[in-house]
Amino acid sequence: MKNTRPTDSLLAQLCACALVLASSVALADDALDIVVYGATGKVGAHVVQEALDRGHRVTAVSRKPAQITAQHANLSAVKGDLLDKASVTDIVTGADVVIVSVRGVIGDSGKPESALQFMAAETLVDVLHQLGPDGPRLLHVGGSGTLEVEPGVTFAAKLPTILLPRGLEIEILGQMLALEFFAKVDDVKWTYVTPPKNFTNGPRTGEFRVGGDLALKDRRGRTRVSRADFAVALITEAERAEYLRQRISIAY
Ligand SMILES: NC(=O)c1ccc[n+]([C@@H]2O[C@H](COP(=O)([O-])OP(=O)(O)OC[C@H]3O[C@@H](n4cnc5c(N)ncnc54)[C@H](OP(=O)(O)O)[C@@H]3O)[C@@H](O)[C@H]2O)c1
Repeated sequence: MKNTRPTDSLLAQLCACALVLASSVALADDALDIVVYGATGKVGAHVVQEALDRGHRVTAVSRKPAQITAQHANLSAVKGDLLDKASVTDIVTGADVVIVSVRGVIGDSGKPESALQFMAAETLVDVLHQLGPDGPRLLHVGGSGTLEVEPGVTFAAKLPTILLPRGLEIEILGQMLALEFFAKVDDVKWTYVTPPKNFTNGPRTGEFRVGGDLALKDRRGRTRVSRADFAVALITEAERAEYLRQRISIAY
């Protein structure tokens, strides 16, 4: 019969694992308080999971928080609406980082100013400005329409708008407006984190590249990343604060 008693070397490895675990517990002092708007969304759900997996405390915001069914000691689900500035102030006060990953068009004006992505940017900048220099950082999930396919020419400029649903066109223009708006904000610690043209449902690999205005392409000329790896990039920026007051783009 095979001997199942741990060998000395296995015991040594188990002790080493215990040390690693102990040091991760000690690192809990570095845990961030992260508020996620859009926590129920396709991108935001990955962001919440990634933040929890990395030991952070997460406040997941939804207009219907009962939709947040995940259970975790470091997760709180709260009711909140970005159209209600007082509730935004209550929710983000005391946080380290606010991540906004939302979609929508408010009303039927047909104007880019009615894209929730732009309205959220204005609201958060106003609230964070009021909270002062020690207030939270803001990571805004942007739109790939703002990326350049060649120097000076954006994806948005190349889109066949006639084929696009009207709401999507407003959101794309709203994301462009949000970027222009952020570019003038110098008293709030924002980062505009831009996805590539294609989000995939692929697995978390932990791999991504960070670029600027020009769309990043992989070896096969594709501009893409999985939502799970985009979340890795967001939480990495939440932890490192490397790109304050900049637009960055993420892709493989
Ligand atoms: N290639 C690209 O450039 C690309 C592609 C896809 C997405 N995106 C961007 O990625 C981000 C997230 O997209 P997604 O696909 O994850 O969206 P989604 O799945 O449609 O989720 C939208 C989220 O917005 C939240 N929301 C809507 N109205 C709200 C309000 N008034 N207050 C607070 N939250 C509100 C919803 O929360 P509740 O309903 O729970 O309140 C929901 O969680 C957006 O910024 C979008 O522009 C970019």
